Amino acid sequence: MLIAHVSDTHIDNGPRSVERTERVVDYLLGLPRPVDVVLLTGDLADNGRADEYERFRELFGRLAVPLLHLPGNHDRREHFVAAGLGPLNRAETVGEAQFALLDSSIPGQSEGFIEDSALAWLDSALDGDRPSFVCFHHPPVALGHFHADKVRQFGEERLEAVIRRHPNVVAVLCGHFHTPTVTTFAGVPLVIAPGVASTLILPWEDPDGDLDYDAPPGIALHNLVDGRLITTFRSMEGNRSFSHG
Ligand SMILES: [Fe+2]
Ligand SMILES: [Fe+2]
Repeated sequence: MLIAHVSDTHIDNGPRSVERTERVVDYLLGLPRPVDVVLLTGDLADNGRADEYERFRELFGRLAVPLLHLPGNHDRREHFVAAGLGPLNRAETVGEAQFALLDSSIPGQSEGFIEDSALAWLDSALDGDRPSFVCFHHPPVALGHFHADKVRQFGEERLEAVIRRHPNVVAVLCGHFHTPTVTTFAGVPLVIAPGVASTLILPWEDPDGDLDYDAPPGIALHNLVDGRLITTFRSMEGNRSFSHG
């Protein structure tokens, strides 16, 4: 099972965010072996406006595969749901895998938190032995970046306790960090997708750096093979051709 993990498109209806997102959609459309599902881990719109979600839906509507959405700190719940991208906090099954999609946003805030009621729902959704992905926007651990760590997800010990109760959790998948990143959380892989809109500058590149707007957009591709996850990353450097030799 092949999962495209796309994050932080920050559609603002300007040409830049639309063109970068189009590059991702074109890449996915050009794959001779299409992905089975596209997971979008938040900050889909830059300002959470209804017209931004309309454009987002047009862009991704070209793909004939299931699309799974969850909101980030730049999204606005009411417009996100009104655009048909909700409901919030729900489980979807695609093939042999289950995706638990959680809202880690706090209205008006950049950092994240998952409500107790959503965690109680997650605990029951993960019952059984179906391979499951726990998905939300805000990484629940410090990642060694002075700015980004201030706006991570907090209260993560409650989430960790839930995940540790369910050995069928394959991985935790998030966005928000705008750079491809792999670590662990609650004993499972935590994989953060690259940002489509921009790329985080790392402390060893520039201690005062914030975001690089010139680096190409990227995505993660998760291949679930016999219950084991193989994650690869691709950046959209330009037009790609998949023909042989
Ligand atoms: Fe973002
Ligand atoms: Fe974010």
